[in-house]
Amino acid sequence: MIYSEKLPTADQFFDLFETTDWNTKYELSKEELYIALKNSWYTISVFEKEQLVGFGRVICDGVVHALILDVIIQPERQGEGIGKEIMNKLVTKCKKHKIRDIQLFSAKDKAGFYEKLGFKNRPGNSPGMELEQYW
Ligand SMILES: CC(C)(COP(=O)(O)OP(=O)(O)OC[C@H]1O[C@@H](n2cnc3c(N)ncnc32)[C@H](O)[C@@H]1OP(=O)(O)O)[C@@H](O)C(=O)NCCC(=O)NCCS
Repeated sequence: MIYSEKLPTADQFFDLFETTDWNTKYELSKEELYIALKNSWYTISVFEKEQLVGFGRVICDGVVHALILDVIIQPERQGEGIGKEIMNKLVTKCKKHKIRDIQLFSAKDKAGFYEKLGFKNRPGNSPGMELEQYW
């Protein structure tokens, strides 16, 4: 297994993304999704025999704020420690640049995964917020 900063192909990433149900909400084309990937600050792709088995990325302003996104492991490869290794690499990169805020939004039922890595819920009186789907 190779952990690489190299981007996967648009096809490889789209196939991995489609293993989640997130595109039901976002309705992204393969091309749109690839633009988003290319605009990332840092990415980790996990390849096995040319196959993309895991991925994670950071968008960031380079100084203050970083947001970890799209941590996805192929369903049949979940539970092998790949997600944890990707997260460690993403966080290490942020720490190396002394990014002050490293944040993420947990998907449903995944908070425990991030808690094991040291992430905590924001306090109830200063929650993360978002606009309802508006497009
Ligand atoms: C969530 C996800 C990234 C975890 O990756 P993974 O490779 O399966 O997880 P790992 O094998 O690295 O697990 C690391 C640790 O977290 C724990 N863990 C994994 N998923 C968990 C969950 N949903 N809840 C609580 N703990 C979890 C593991 O038991 C393991 O614990 P250990 O270190 O004590 O042994 C993966 O399940 C996935 O891709 N899910 C679908 C996409 C998704 O929802 N991504 C999250 C976006 S916010």
